[in-house]
Amino acid sequence: MNSKVNFTFNGTQYSGEEGQSVAAALLNSGVTSLRSTRFNGEPRTIFCGIGICFDCVVKIDGVANQRACLIAITEGSQIESSQ
Ligand code: FES
Repeated sequence: MNSKVNFTFNGTQYSGEEGQSVAAALLNSGVTSLRSTRFNGEPRTIFCGIGICFDCVVKIDGVANQRACLIAITEGSQIESSQ
């Protein structure tokens, strides 16, 4: 059994499981939009799930342009939507 991991997304507290990707933890928490497009504000979430499309980029602990599908969630992570 995996350990529970607490994190925030745009300031809201969520929890996931150790070993999950950031994207999986967010989707499993009901978050379906990780960011919005620059010009039209269209919502984006996981598309490829393997690090190729960059649709899932978010800011993690202050570091921008992180692919949520490739990075494991860690305790206390502060995740924010990219613009
Ligand atoms: S979903 Fe395609 S890079 Fe993350």
